[in-house]
Amino acid sequence: MASSIRCSLLFSLLFFFAAASPSLQQSFRPKALVLPISKDASTLQYLTRISQRTPLVPVDLVVDLGGQFLWVDCEQNYVSSTYRPARCGSAVCSLARASGCGDCSSAAGPGCNNNTCGVIPDNTVTHTATGGEVATDLVSVNSTDGSNPGRAVNVTRFVFACAPSSLLGGLAKGVEGMAGLGRTRIALPSQFASAFSFDRKFAICLSSSTTSNGVIFFGNSSYNLLPNIDASQSLAYTPLYLNPVSTASAYSQGEPSSEYFIGVTSVRVGNRNLSLNSTLLSIDGNGYGGTKISTVDPYTVLESSIFATLTEAFVEEVTAMNITRASAVSPFEYCFSSANILSTRVGPAVPYIYLVLQSDQVVWTITGSNSMVQVSQDVLCLGFVDGGSSPRTSVVIGGYQLQDNLVQIDLARSRLGFSSTLLGRQTTCANFNFTSNA
Ligand SMILES: *[C@@H]1O[C@H](CO)[C@@H](O)[C@H](O)[C@H]1NC(C)=O
Ligand SMILES: *[C@@H]1O[C@H](CO)[C@@H](O)[C@H](O)[C@H]1NC(C)=O
Ligand SMILES: *[C@@H]1O[C@H](CO)[C@@H](O)[C@H](O)[C@H]1NC(C)=O
Ligand SMILES: *[C@@H]1O[C@H](CO)[C@@H](O)[C@H](O)[C@H]1NC(C)=O
Ligand SMILES: *[C@@H]1O[C@H](CO)[C@@H](O)[C@H](O)[C@H]1NC(C)=O
Ligand SMILES: *[C@@H]1O[C@H](CO)[C@@H](O)[C@H](O)[C@H]1NC(C)=O
Ligand SMILES: *[C@@H]1O[C@H](CO)[C@@H](O)[C@H](O)[C@H]1NC(C)=O
Ligand SMILES: *[C@@H]1O[C@H](CO)[C@@H](O)[C@H](O)[C@H]1NC(C)=O
Repeated sequence: MASSIRCSLLFSLLFFFAAASPSLQQSFRPKALVLPISKDASTLQYLTRISQRTPLVPVDLVVDLGGQFLWVDCEQNYVSSTYRPARCGSAVCSLARASGCGDCSSAAGPGCNNNTCGVIPDNTVTHTATGGEVATDLVSVNSTDGSNPGRAVNVTRFVFACAPSSLLGGLAKGVEGMAGLGRTRIALPSQFASAFSFDRKFAICLSSSTTSNGVIFFGNSSYNLLPNIDASQSLAYTPLYLNPVSTASAYSQGEPSSEYFIGVTSVRVGNRNLSLNSTLLSIDGNGYGGTKISTVDPYTVLESSIFATLTEAFVEEVTAMNITRASAVSPFEYCFSSANILSTRVGPAVPYIYLVLQSDQVVWTITGSNSMVQVSQDVLCLGFVDGGSSPRTSVVIGGYQLQDNLVQIDLARSRLGFSSTLLGRQTTCANFNFTSNA
């Protein structure tokens, strides 16, 4: 009897405090979040910045669209009162699909604790991987209404992995880790979606400029770019495919790939249909072949026979336009004098390259803005590189080909939306208004 009275008293006290506390901040639930994405001029890596830890500090990260999770260097300058290692057998360990349970023999601190589970942070730029402690800490990101950043919101126990400083080798200066946006439960999109109960959906828009930011949207919002263009209105959709075999540098048996694959069925260059080996365009039982989207490959990488067929057709087409070959400029093999190349709103006037998806009506169009790279005043190169004769993935659509294209990944509906170039629609990925309206 007494205990039930105490219980109800406690309940009403709790209720009272809940009702009386100024909980406006806490009850604000964003519909979407926004992050800036910049292009590093020297590495051509795409970078973002989040706020993490207590007290909050800005953390610069390389964006890896297909990456498994957030990993950061915990060995240097990691100071936080809210850092929590994931204890073996905890819910966080199973969410992270963490393997093993370990102790640490070095000095205790972030990244080195006993009785914790670990994962394998992967530097997908250098293809190096190492073991790292799973942990949680506070992450703060700006909300958005689709047009501007709004107030910052907190995820108090954001799951990530710790890595040693050595894993940063090959990444842009000042970067402290990588932000994985891949198809796992602990990649950024899934964690944000579960923290704020919004759709497991995000969109990425890479700027072609190294001086103005592109944008990543998480959740459900419109994607408004100046001057008042909602880029979500110009998407075509294609199914996402799951590669059953991990494409990470190190992984355990049976793990699927966290990267995003789509089904390119044929390729056209101008009016020519390329005759490609269709086996290479689908993912086989060992996880070879197919087409993926990558922000860590600066340019599209094609399996050798596809590269040869595409470049041959391209050269024939441009030769017919009196465009002349120039010497190769690494990493490109096919370069041309700019003399007879006109400029258009959608880039240099060269034949378009069409990636045909599930039907002849669903086509990702690559215009000159995404195919031609200006390497000097007088020379433009075809921005595709040869991936060798038996690469893991036959077609890797790289960063340059994604610039000023909006790409939406909808995990719930297992589809990818793409806009093709926004330049024809009078906007660019650098046109999100980053002035806060909070
Ligand atoms: C882990 O436990 C071992 C054995 O008790 C101890 O020697 C070591 O210092 C501990 N490591 C950390 C990081 O606490
Ligand atoms: C939120 O946006 C403002 C304005 O763009 C920026 O100064 C601030 O750093 C952002 N906050 C976070 C947590 O990213
Ligand atoms: C987010 O966390 C920071 C750091 O602990 C704090 O200053 C801020 O008030 C929190 N914001 C919200 C909306 O809870
Ligand atoms: C998502 O946003 C669109 C338009 O912004 C809206 O029509 C739709 O109802 C929203 N869906 C959810 C689940 O909030
Ligand atoms: C190329 O393929 C498309 C679709 O299959 C077809 O409509 C078109 O006529 C073909 N073009 C040529 C030049 O063969
Ligand atoms: C097509 O590619 C597959 C996979 O690499 C290869 O085994 C096959 O021999 C190729 N077919 C032709 C006709 O080149
Ligand atoms: C290409 O150049 C030749 C010779 O200068 C000229 O006769 C022809 O009209 C040009 N063709 C095009 C498509 O410009
Ligand atoms: C950007 O957003 C701010 C805040 O809403 C607004 O004052 C400003 O006019 C916008 N800039 C442009 C170019 O529309």
